Amino acid sequence: MSESQMAGSAAWIRIRNAAGHVGETVEIRGWVTHRRSSGKVQFLVVRDGSGNMQCVAGVKDLSPEQWEATAQLTTESAVVVRGVLKADPRQVGGVEMGLQSVEVVSVAHEYPITPKEHGVDFLMDHRHLWLRSSRQQSVLRIRAEIISAFRDFMNREDFLLVDAPVFTPSACEGTSNLFETQYFDDKAYLTQSGQLYMEAAAMAFGRVYCFGPAFRAEKSKTRRHLIEFWMMEPEWAFGTLPDVIALEERLLTYTVGRVLEARSEDLKVCERDTSKLERVVGPFPRIHYDDAVKMLHDAGLPFEYGNDFGAPDETELSNRFETPIFVTNYPAAVKAFYMEPDPANPLLSLSCDCLAPEGYGEIIGGGQRMSSLDLLTARIDEHGLPQSAFEWYKDLRRYGSVPHAGFGIGVERTLAWIAGLDHVRESIAFPRMLTRLAP
Ligand code: 4AD
Ligand code: MG
Repeated sequence: MSESQMAGSAAWIRIRNAAGHVGETVEIRGWVTHRRSSGKVQFLVVRDGSGNMQCVAGVKDLSPEQWEATAQLTTESAVVVRGVLKADPRQVGGVEMGLQSVEVVSVAHEYPITPKEHGVDFLMDHRHLWLRSSRQQSVLRIRAEIISAFRDFMNREDFLLVDAPVFTPSACEGTSNLFETQYFDDKAYLTQSGQLYMEAAAMAFGRVYCFGPAFRAEKSKTRRHLIEFWMMEPEWAFGTLPDVIALEERLLTYTVGRVLEARSEDLKVCERDTSKLERVVGPFPRIHYDDAVKMLHDAGLPFEYGNDFGAPDETELSNRFETPIFVTNYPAAVKAFYMEPDPANPLLSLSCDCLAPEGYGEIIGGGQRMSSLDLLTARIDEHGLPQSAFEWYKDLRRYGSVPHAGFGIGVERTLAWIAGLDHVRESIAFPRMLTRLAP
């Protein structure tokens, strides 16, 4: 058998699994990240999306045509390489390929992203290419792990996945940031939250959750606001505020533990101080709104009782603890129309926000839902919302109404905290922001 026939039968493997194939002739399909040559030896670093591998060829290892073509390879050129894997503890992944053939799939034009420093705008304009860099890949791998952890956790807790619609006829989280769109002869809004639909589904299945995109026409240009973000929203029939807080605590403990275990290499690439994540084990402090306000006043912040917390207030509160904290019983006036009033003080609500440590602030919002049909009707009026759009929602109070509670956890803010990112723009492959709709 000739060498090229042998190479032709080599198994296509992913670099991630290379250590299990030492001594075998294998094929790797990917892109060239670096190339150097010392005249008689050429070195290629090939990236296949699962990892990087150094590949080495001496003049005699390749045909003269392949040797010449390899010498012309530019950054991000696509190749299929074949060769024998050798253990080499000096290499990332502990394996190196002794090349037997290099097939050029396409030669890349001059690649705009270079090892020199680029500004954020340049990188965001080239987001479609920036995704190929190792840090961005690590961030998105951690994102995928967080999403898997969310789903695995909810399934294990016996919550059923129910998908909520994206086109909606009404507001869930206030009218100021609704995205309006044409729906044939009608108006529709892009969903702000699947919650109201999950309340309906919870009355059918008892425990449900949705996972999908949410849209908010946020005029705020902060490091934690996106226009399009992804949220998981569990809803629990017969669940109360303390029940969902305990569920959030278990979810976060599980998710952080899972990322620490499964994505330690990626956390390293992100230069995350993992000792801080190792401390994220419940129970997390529960702080009543009134006590949170006292803490802010003690710290000398000019906070007015009755307001919602701003970013500096959340930072002040969360910096006092090493774990996420739960702030409960917010004033009804600063929360959405559907919050159950606090029986101990009707001006407050059975609501809870979870604030992540290290200044990351709110990552979860939730609470117990209003049970009274009359009060709900009044609140819909007070919030200037059309009753007609909420008749179906009010049916949930007419037919077998039960106490119920739920929450929404944002993927991007959770990821920004766990990976230690400065800004949510890196937490999603193609961010939508106030001043960015492309690429
Ligand atoms: O606090 P929010 O607005 O709550 C709701 O939408 C409820 N209906 C959820 C529920 O009870 N089912 O949003 C929940 C979470 C926030 O804590 C945050 O993590 C994320 O969604 N979020 C955003 N993330 C990025 N950019 C934005 N503009 C966000 N708005 C909310
Ligand atoms: Mg909120």
